[in-house]
Amino acid sequence: MTPGRRILLIVGGGIAACKLPELVRLIVRAGGGVTCVLTRAGAEFVTPLTLAALSGNKVHTELFDLTEEVEMGHIRLSRAADLVVVAPCTADLMAKMAGGHADDLASTLLLATDKPVLIAPAMNVRMWEHPATRRNLDRLRADGVRVVGPAHGEMACGEFGPGRMAEPAEILAAIEAALGEGPLAGRRILVTSGPTHEPIDPVRYLANRSSGRQGTAIAEALARLGAEVIFVTGPASAPRPRGVRVVEVETAREMRDAALAALPVDAAVMAAAVADWRVEAAERKIKKDGSGRPPALRLIENPDILQEISNHPMRPRLVVGFAAETHALEANARAKLARKGCDWIVANDVGPGTGIMGGEENAVTLITAEGAEPWPRLSKAETAARLARRIAEALA
Ligand code: CTP
Repeated sequence: MTPGRRILLIVGGGIAACKLPELVRLIVRAGGGVTCVLTRAGAEFVTPLTLAALSGNKVHTELFDLTEEVEMGHIRLSRAADLVVVAPCTADLMAKMAGGHADDLASTLLLATDKPVLIAPAMNVRMWEHPATRRNLDRLRADGVRVVGPAHGEMACGEFGPGRMAEPAEILAAIEAALGEGPLAGRRILVTSGPTHEPIDPVRYLANRSSGRQGTAIAEALARLGAEVIFVTGPASAPRPRGVRVVEVETAREMRDAALAALPVDAAVMAAAVADWRVEAAERKIKKDGSGRPPALRLIENPDILQEISNHPMRPRLVVGFAAETHALEANARAKLARKGCDWIVANDVGPGTGIMGGEENAVTLITAEGAEPWPRLSKAETAARLARRIAEALA
């Protein structure tokens, strides 16, 4: 982080506030300056003294501190920062922000600021999934607020699901990206994702079960580290990633054209489940001919986009392929790495019963020239964050 970047850190109430001293330490170690504002609820979980000692700055708690208000303290505070961060951001704080309330120092600062705002939500999974919170989240995103997390996992309340605050290291990465200073700032990265649809005739198509979730999570993780991402996606069911350029395609050939048009890039991550074959498609709808014999479909091999990018004169410095295998994972993936000419293969076991294709989690093995690294079973978001960090290291 460029020394002297100033973060106004608003600390909401919630058990996750216990992680705030660690976040302050990380920001300070990265060279940033931190001024903390504690909400009344936040002060129940972390003391002003701890935050003041770690940040080296006065911690603000009350709106009606008269000496501050003589100089319009809340306006000054919110304008002096380069970025306003809310962590943990409770459901209540999100609602206040979405509604434009200003009844305490934190909400007043958030309404008065003209600086970018990043929130790290943390709450019980039911609260996170409540339609009111979803509405507020959409509202905040539409207002340009950046969001990091929440992560999946076990919460202090004993429930399991999304709602746990992102880890301090991930929040720091999001802060750097929001300031345009992530480790991938200035890098262009191509990500392909989702299935392709190959028409059989004007109304039917061949497809596969890819949801596009892993590719979407990778695009978001790369963008969070500051990369400019070109996301080429087939017709996937997953919502489109935020903060990236999205190019929608349907067939493998369209995906190839869009991928090549994105060159030059620093890295390419080919997470799409591209159909290996297309059908010699009929121009008109195929009708039953009454004979009882099914029509014969002639399959033609599709271009291999990963192979083409790996052998392109404008080859990116790092080309990452995926291998979805149902057996002999490592041997098949290593053979694929050699055959396609890419640098890494992210191999995953999509055998029946793994629940990976279309599911929330992934268990991958990263194959590189140096060897095979089995990663633990992680959420697709965490797998993506880990891969994005590895890509940042490789491009550093
Ligand atoms: N891929 C691609 N273009 C294709 C087919 C695959 O870019 N026409 C990419 C995928 O995006 C993925 C990798 O190649 O990164 C591996 O895809 P996969 O379908 O597992 O490999 P195949 O080459 O189809 O090998 P096999 O069918 O033998 O498993």
